[in-house]
Amino acid sequence: MVHIAPSILSADFGALNKEISTIEAHSDYMHIDVMDGHFVPNLTFGAPVVRCIQTDTPLDVHLMVENPQHYVDDFASIGLEVLTFHYEAVEYAPSLLKRIRKQGMKAGISVKPNTDITVLKPLLEHLDWVLVMSVEPGFGGQSFMPAALDKIKWLREKAPDLDIAVDGGINAETGTLCKEAGANILIAGSYIFKADDRLAAIRSLRG
Ligand code: DX5
Ligand code: ZN
Repeated sequence: MVHIAPSILSADFGALNKEISTIEAHSDYMHIDVMDGHFVPNLTFGAPVVRCIQTDTPLDVHLMVENPQHYVDDFASIGLEVLTFHYEAVEYAPSLLKRIRKQGMKAGISVKPNTDITVLKPLLEHLDWVLVMSVEPGFGGQSFMPAALDKIKWLREKAPDLDIAVDGGINAETGTLCKEAGANILIAGSYIFKADDRLAAIRSLRG
């Protein structure tokens, strides 16, 4: 079964809780992009803003920041379901993954489009969630990069029970390709939030 995680990056930040209320009952996770202007060339917000989000839907936070280890305690105190950092942002991932689990969250790692997926092989035992980027991280509204499909297939073959999420350029068509490749979580920003009928967009992703 596929899970849907709307990415609030494409929502109106001035009315975030109202925006979330339009889709939360139909969503499995709320995907929250935290960007620092260094790891990616864009800025969003940090833990103080995430703490203000009011929803019963589990939060999945995607850290696109340098030194993600500095922020784990702050985010853990919010009560997230999933905390994901980038493989490219740390020198040694296992200790950080263990720390995230120890603080009661699912431990996730994300890989940028140019990162070879096989680097995750030694990390699989520490991972609850892998977020395959299908665009360069930083901005919504970009086109899906099909090279993500082979990464998803490789992961699914190696880890039948792993949560495999895909993020970037997801719509009904690319979402189907990702599901066929083995992804079980579809993250979509503009496809949902810019739709005239957001719930119909979510339904189309479930297929
Ligand atoms: C991009 C973010 C995505 C973004 C996806 O760096 O990680 O979550 O919101 O946006 P769409 O679905 O519009 O490609
Ligand atoms: Zn994201």
